[in-house]
Amino acid sequence: MPVEEQVMSKTAKLDLGDKTIDLPIIVGSENEHAIDISKLRTETGYITLDNGFGNTGACKSAVTYIDGEKGILRYRGYPIETLAKNSTFLEVSWLLIFGELPRAGQVDELAEEIRKHSLLHQDMRHHFEGFPATAHPMAVLSAMINASSCYHPELLEVKKIEESSLSMVAMLMAKVSTIAAFSYKKSIGEPQRYPDPSLDYCNNFLHCMFSKPYGRYTASPEVVRALDLFLMLHADHEQNCSTSTARVVGSSEANLFASMSAAVCALWGPLHGGANQRCIEMLEKIHRDGMDVKQVVERVKNREFKLMGFGHRVYKSSDPRATILKEACDDLLKALGVNDPLLPIAQELEEVARNDDYFLSRNLYPNVDFYSGIILRTIGIPVEMFTVMFSIGRMPGWIAHWKEQHENPNGRIARPRQVYTGATERDYVALESRP
Ligand code: ACO
Repeated sequence: MPVEEQVMSKTAKLDLGDKTIDLPIIVGSENEHAIDISKLRTETGYITLDNGFGNTGACKSAVTYIDGEKGILRYRGYPIETLAKNSTFLEVSWLLIFGELPRAGQVDELAEEIRKHSLLHQDMRHHFEGFPATAHPMAVLSAMINASSCYHPELLEVKKIEESSLSMVAMLMAKVSTIAAFSYKKSIGEPQRYPDPSLDYCNNFLHCMFSKPYGRYTASPEVVRALDLFLMLHADHEQNCSTSTARVVGSSEANLFASMSAAVCALWGPLHGGANQRCIEMLEKIHRDGMDVKQVVERVKNREFKLMGFGHRVYKSSDPRATILKEACDDLLKALGVNDPLLPIAQELEEVARNDDYFLSRNLYPNVDFYSGIILRTIGIPVEMFTVMFSIGRMPGWIAHWKEQHENPNGRIARPRQVYTGATERDYVALESRP
């Protein structure tokens, strides 16, 4: 159960020379300590400066807990390893959004709502026609999520998500999957395949992606399980770049569609979700060019490029998602009898990096993106779609955070300060007098 944060009797003293103030210390349910600076500027005129927000808590949240030093990740208190073994993506989506594991029947209710919403409004097909076939699917996804709101104006005013508004949650989860598959079909010049209400979430997505006009695709249980696990492991990761974006956009009371669309854009970058695409491209290049792994590592150390799929702002010992996915990757390849030449390259890179002081001293380990790409490749997902797959998985997490933020009675619009370093006041120079 969520535990309210406590305010310690102990305070932090800030000595500013002419003034000393006491700042309250807040302790979270996992004994994380934070100095509450909400009154700092009012009381002292000072602000804090924290490049990349590495030391800044932007909110209080009860959704996901990470201990980066110990490699712990828990959704609503449940260890990710336990969920990976026992649960499913839809069950975890419910857990993240509504705070508890679903009771009997609730997951079926969510699945049913998703089925109901999986078709896109017929007019939206024209939007797909307007994009060039070469459009990056993340651009299409973000635009189409936002465009979906035009067809559901009644949802634009929704300020609270409750179990009674399950339909809105289901709509986003359903649309994101259909849009993703439709944009893939468009990119390869094939007719779109409509979702099939007799299929579950993962099977339906795979059907829309891979069924041909002349033949239906049926996924093997191993592929379905690997996809479900991939989505579950990507479902939330507390205040990362895209989730923070969803919360920042939502803090202006922008609607859920606009906030999710913005989160997709934030995820696209190669330092965030876009790393899964860059990682597999890097492995493909090493393979294609017959590069020596040890030399690749030397070039990384010479700062010619970064080792994609390595390093994390929060994890400093291991990313538990990477550990689970590495095993899942091995299992999937074995079950399907696939011999992917990229897997031994990835394993060798990891081995070399794990024994090299450059990586050890900087706490650089494989992150979630390092092995996930090999799983997606094996499923048949093209590399340009990798970050889209991440978006499908992350959707319930973004929704959970948007919901949490909107439920906070003390919520305020996100509006950081800055330390201005530009020119001080100057006299205006008329055009004809400018040098
Ligand atoms: N390869 C080589 N060196 C690295 C890498 C890497 N992947 N990541 C960090 N470093 C080095 C930096 O150059 C820096 O070295 P220095 O102190 O000598 O200058 C040091 O490690 C610290 O790195 P920062 O960039 O300060 O770490 P930060 O926390 O800001 O960045 C990030 C984290 C963006 C994930 C970074 O590790 C990175 O770019 N990794 C590759 C991209 C990637 O895989 N992103 C996915 C992250 S997981 C996710 O978003 C789903």
